[in-house]
Amino acid sequence: MNLLEILEGLNVEIREQELLKDYTTLKIGGMVRYMVVPEDVQTATEVVKRLRESSVDFFVLGGGSNLLVPDSGIECVVLLLRGLKNIQILGQAPSVVVYAESGVALQGLVSLAMKQGLSGLEGLVGIPGSLGGAVFGNAGAFGYEIMNVVEEIDILRKGSRMVIKKEDLSYGYRDGGLLEGDVILSTRLRLEVTEPERIKRKMIEYLNIKKQTQPLDEPSAGCVFKNPPGESAGRLIDLAGCKGLTKGDIQVSTKHANFFVNKGQGRAEDFIALMDEVRERVLRIFSIELEPEIRILTKGCTSK
Ligand code: EPU
Repeated sequence: MNLLEILEGLNVEIREQELLKDYTTLKIGGMVRYMVVPEDVQTATEVVKRLRESSVDFFVLGGGSNLLVPDSGIECVVLLLRGLKNIQILGQAPSVVVYAESGVALQGLVSLAMKQGLSGLEGLVGIPGSLGGAVFGNAGAFGYEIMNVVEEIDILRKGSRMVIKKEDLSYGYRDGGLLEGDVILSTRLRLEVTEPERIKRKMIEYLNIKKQTQPLDEPSAGCVFKNPPGESAGRLIDLAGCKGLTKGDIQVSTKHANFFVNKGQGRAEDFIALMDEVRERVLRIFSIELEPEIRILTKGCTSK
């Protein structure tokens, strides 16, 4: 059965022959045959159910940050969750619960929190991507992590819908504690009510630090490697003399060495070669093996 038959009768947009470089912050990635774009949680649930029943492999795409997609594209279906973007603020001071769906842009949520005077997301200012992706990878900076404010998440696991409370997730550094294949539909976040001006001041301060230390104006996937315990991967890569190292159009940023930037027509192949070289240099000099933070997608849609 082909995909159009499998999804017959569902009110869902299907995009064909999409170039994934148009969907990633790194601006890298080949073609995918089908991209399914549900507009609400119920439809997304039904899509996942039907794909599973028909044994169609799929990859969940949110904001496309923190992700490296092969130049030759991918063979599975892409489930694009950007249409799931409802937000509701429930309860009142001193703290509220924010219900937000996975496709909400993290920065949309951060600026809403600023305007409404809701504290807890200040350190996440400037991080690209969707809320679902941020929770999946427990995004963070400046000592903040999204899991600090998560109360519970509503997911599909092996096709079954379930609500998981934060205390039942074994999350950690850059890891939301979910399983490969889980689809996050929405998240409930607990935020503290405070004066908007206070939040704004903090966000401006963090954003200024980021602008000074990170190449925010060039396409990248964010930090490439995880920080080893007690160390900064960027500092080690810098000390290993890798700043400015280039393969094709991919360069180790001269601003922050844990960012690899796309100078134009960058390719995934070059990105991987640069990762290998940087890892080898750091290993040789410091005897520390760097681990990727970004998700590296294979053509068959497994991620490493
Ligand atoms: N440093 C260098 N050279 C560099 C980069 C950093 O010497 O090229 C030095 C800095 O001068 C500083 C130290 O290393 O003394 C730490 O640098 P920084 O404050 O930039 O923090 P980081 O550990 O490199 C982490 C996160 C970032 C997050 C920042 C700010 C990881 C892998 N990195 O970087 O997160 O934005 O702290 O809180 O956890 C990401 O996860 O994608 C990411 C960018």
